[in-house]
Formats: sequence, structure tokens, C-alpha cells
Amino acid sequence: MLDFLGNLERTNMCGELRAANAGQQVILMGWVNRRRDHGNLIFLDVRDRSGIAQVVLDKELTADGHLKGEQVRPEYVVAAVGKVRLRGQDAINPKMPTGEIEIEATELRILNDTRLAPFSPSEEAIQNEETRLKYRYIDLRRVEMQRNFWLRHQITRAIRESLSAQGFLEIETPILTKSTPEGARDFLVPSRVHPGEFYALPQSPQIFKQILMISGFDRYFQIARCFRDEDQRADRQLEFTQVDLEMSFPRRDHVFAVVEKFCAAAWAAAGITLPTPFPRITYDDAIRQYGSDKPDLRLPGLTDVRSAFPESALATLQIDPALPIVALRIPKVGELSRKEREENHPLFDQKKGAKFIDDFKRLAKSFPDAVTKIHELSGATEGDFVIVVAGDPAHHIKASDTKFEGRLSEREINVYSAAGNFRSELAKKYAERHEAFQITDRAVADADPRAGKMLDGEAAFHPIWIVDFPMFEYDLASGKWVPAHHPFTAPYEADMANLVSDPASVRADCYDLAMNGLELGSGSIRIHRKDVQQQIFASLGISDEEARKRFGFFLDALEYGTPPHGGIALGLDRIVMLLAGAPSLREVITFPKTAKAIDLMADAPTTVPDQQLKELHIRVAGKS
Ligand code: AMO
Repeated sequence: MLDFLGNLERTNMCGELRAANAGQQVILMGWVNRRRDHGNLIFLDVRDRSGIAQVVLDKELTADGHLKGEQVRPEYVVAAVGKVRLRGQDAINPKMPTGEIEIEATELRILNDTRLAPFSPSEEAIQNEETRLKYRYIDLRRVEMQRNFWLRHQITRAIRESLSAQGFLEIETPILTKSTPEGARDFLVPSRVHPGEFYALPQSPQIFKQILMISGFDRYFQIARCFRDEDQRADRQLEFTQVDLEMSFPRRDHVFAVVEKFCAAAWAAAGITLPTPFPRITYDDAIRQYGSDKPDLRLPGLTDVRSAFPESALATLQIDPALPIVALRIPKVGELSRKEREENHPLFDQKKGAKFIDDFKRLAKSFPDAVTKIHELSGATEGDFVIVVAGDPAHHIKASDTKFEGRLSEREINVYSAAGNFRSELAKKYAERHEAFQITDRAVADADPRAGKMLDGEAAFHPIWIVDFPMFEYDLASGKWVPAHHPFTAPYEADMANLVSDPASVRADCYDLAMNGLELGSGSIRIHRKDVQQQIFASLGISDEEARKRFGFFLDALEYGTPPHGGIALGLDRIVMLLAGAPSLREVITFPKTAKAIDLMADAPTTVPDQQLKELHIRVAGKS
């Protein structure tokens, strides 16, 4: 039989009681985390958001409470009335923040019972993620998930406060809007009122925030929901949240300073000092040194080991002499057997026209000097795992060899990025053995902010700005230059003269922020002049007509006194994922979609009644 709440009022949260509260009368409410029946004594661990308190039901003290204690099961909702008392010396639990006390109950009310849950929130996450997502309300009760959302709140609040203090106004922009230029597929919403016409959900507030600069708001920010119909990955969701900002009259350094300040505040909210300013690297150097435009600085970079190979070795080993030869090194992996090495081979991206050498014993038979030199150049010590990556003449894939003064060719980028991808795949695989990775994952997982225990993980987070991206990338398939970023990104003023004659040499005034191998944010100084915007559209092969159709309203706005402006957006979910030490965004988004883009709990997407389709002037193909 369930009890009514009656006149009971909660006095305290379960997790806040300490020895100093001994003697106080309290009323706690929450879920039964665990129940232990010792005959005349029943112990209930009662849990709420703040933590767990132990309630003792003594038959002698409360026969009725004890009887109810016999009836309750894990996840029943209860109210316990009683007095805080110190536990006996031998009953103290140093692992629990409330481990010194317990509640000597005088009354227990059962406020609700429960069906048998498919898993218990008092335990570690179960392996089957589909079950976790279907019963997300139970999954979210787990301490770890409560901690993740506590953290998310602290981070969001810190960012809001930091940006407000830096003079930014929080302004909302529409969700029902027109296609935006981020390059993913749009989600469309049919209009009932305008047959055959559709709104698009924003892939980002990009155009609106630029218009807000035209409107004179000077500094805008928004914790903005964005929607992109793209393939799901651990770090990608269909809908996600950006910390989106835009400012008027900035130089790149101003944007960086703003971001570094709010990041430092966000990390501080999680108990971590993030040193500023963040280091910077050019795109080309990031590719050369890390084989990636989102370098992971927790591991040593790539080393150029070209000088270790005499010409004769290149011919024998069938290495393309025109392309880079680099070594990647994963420290302290230990000796790997042939079998273990072979198991790593599928992690290498053969498609990029690159090959690798990981069998140094064999290499040493023919070229002992080369092996010594590779180790020397890459700074390898005992137990480090070293692999050489080079161009493969046998897989000379279709790519542009065109090389511009001081820039990398596409084929060179391919070799570097094959090495870079291999490096990060191996790093992930051997994370267990590698200290630098453990710092982040373990230290963060151990930190329980609710218990006031914060991590001291300064070494664990490595932000880096990537600058000087190329403005255009050459698309072999279409034979066209395509924007490396969105088409509103300004080229470097100094490179403007080469827009037509030498597009590959034009650098964009855009920037990415990467951390531990993850792209956290991306932004740019924008084009604010209509003539420049038109030139860029022309270089991109976007006709006037197409530009007008897609962004006409924006092009119009540009003509009405647009100030120079620029901004950036950071993935909030990704920031929280990093700080929570979580393996996927699904751990830090309340009701995420699966890899197949399904909300398992709400069961979306679904079909809708014909009548509703009719109102929207929609007929599903293949359905009469
Ligand atoms: P961009 O498209 O690079 O830039 O996005 C900025 C940041 O948003 C996050 N992000 C995502 N997070 C989760 N799931 C996704 N599907 C997803 N897509 C992007 C990333 C990324 O770095 N309007 C520009 C910004 C600007 O120029 O100001 C933009 O949206 O962390």
C-alpha cells in the first residue's frame, strides 16, 4: 500500500548530512538505492541528486517503519523521518561523504513503487547501450550521469557568466528558418500555410549572427541548438549545442582572447586550470607535425625521417621518393609480437596512397643504419612503438600534385594524414598502456565534484589554435575550387590579389580550436564587403542567381553598412564530453539519438497520420 506525502516537507538533501548534523531531526526523500535486511534492523541507502544517506529502521523504534522497510525494493520512492546520529566507530564508511552518520528513522513512507527495472542505476552502466537509451530516465539516475549533467550545468553557467562579463549579449535566433551554409544536409519542416514550401532548421546561427552585427549589437552570443542531417559518430549528433559568438571590429587575436577567457572559466568550473594563451600552429605545420588539422598534443608528433633512408633503400623498399617519409612514435607500448602488429594493420588507411613499415627487425637486416637513425631522429626510447609511413608508388591515387610555394600538395597531405590517422588510432588502442591518455580518462572519471573532490589535471588538456587554413580546396571530382570553410570567410587581405590567378595560395582568415585530438571550435573573420563577397562566390563557381536564391536576404543586408566582424562557435557537448572524460557525446546529452539517428525512448522518428500529412500537402512516395 502506498502512502501519501501528507504534510511531510523535505528538510535536507541526502548527500549533505555530516557528523556536525548529529542530533538534528530530518526528513529525507529519494530512491532506495540498496536495502539490507538484518532481521530487527533494516538498512536503506536513500539516494537523491546530492548523494546517498543510510537510513536505519529499527523494529523496536518504529514497528510500522520496519514493516514498510520489509516491503520496499530498490528504486521505490520513500520519505524517511528521523534523527541524524553518529555511526559506531566500526560502522563508519570512509568512502561515502555521509559515511560518518546515519538516520535513525521514526517513520517511513512509501511514496511510490516501481516495476522491475531492466537494470539498476545503483550499478555501473550496463553494456547494452540500446537498453540504456530506451530506459534513459533510469540510466540518468546513475551517479555518473548525474555528475555529467551537474558538470554540464557548471560549464554552461561559467561560459554564460564569462561572456556576459566580456560584454556579450545573449540573443536568440530562429529555429524555423532558411538553409544555412555549413555544408551538411538540412532538416526540413513543411509549411502548412504555404503548400510545397519548407523551412530549414539551422545548421548554425551563422547568417543571423552576422546580421546582428549589421544591426549594431556589437557582441552577440548564444548557447545555440544546431541541427545537421549527417552521419552520427561518437563526437557527432544530429542536434547539438554550440557556444556561438560574433563580434564587431575584431582582429583574430580578440576572438582568441575571448574564447581563451571563457574556456579558462569553463575548465575552472570543473576544477582545472587551463593555462592561457593557447599555443598556435599553422594548418601546414599541423599537417607536417601531426598529420592532422586537430592535433593531439598528448603524444609526440611525427618526425621527418627522410634522411635515414639512402636512395638505394627507397628503390628497394618501393617508397615514393617525392613524398614525405615520417615516423610516428607511441611511447611505452612495449614490445609487440608479429601477431599484435598485424592486428593493427586494418587501422591504417590504405586508401590515401601511403604505406608503412612496422617490422624493424626485417628492415635492420638490409638497412641497419636506417633503423638506428629512425630511432635517433624520432627520439625513441626503450619500449616505444615506432612506425614509418611513406608514399606508396604502387597505390598512386588520384590526387593533385600541384604544389604552391611553401604549401603542401594534396598528395603530401595524404601521406601525412595517413600517418596522423594511424597515430591516433594506435594511441586509442594502446591508451591503457600510455600514461598521457590515462591522465585524462582516469583522473576525470575519479573526480566527483559533488563530493568536493576536484581533479588536478593540468597536464591532461592540450588546447591549440590552428590558423592559416587554405581558403580553397581543389575538388578533383568536380574540377572546382570549393571553400575549405563556409563561403562567408574572409581571405587574408594580403592574398586578395591572387584570388583568380592563384587560388591555392590564398589563405583564409579562419581558425580552429582543437584539444586532445578533437575539433572543439571553428570560426573566422567574415567578409563584410559586398564586392569581396561577390568575388568569392565567383571563385567558388557560385552564380549570382544561386547566391541570390540561397542567401539573397543576407547579401541585401551586407549592402546596408556592414561593420567588419568575426566570430566562432565551439561545440558545447564536446567540451563537456572532454571534461567528463566520456567516450561519446551520448554520455553528456540527456536524450541523444543512436548511430542510426533514432530516439529509442521517445521512439522518433515515426510515421504520422495521413490527415496530418494531407494538411502539410505531403504524400509519401510509394504509399497510395
Ligand atoms: P562548425 O560547423 O565548424 O562551424 O561547427 C563549430 C563546432 O560545432 C561542433 N559541431 C558538432 N558537435 C556535435 N555534433 C555535430 N554534428 C557537430 N557539428 C559541429 C564542433 C565544431 O567545431 N557557423 C560556424 C562557426 C563560425 O564560423 O562562427 C560553424 O558552425 O565542436
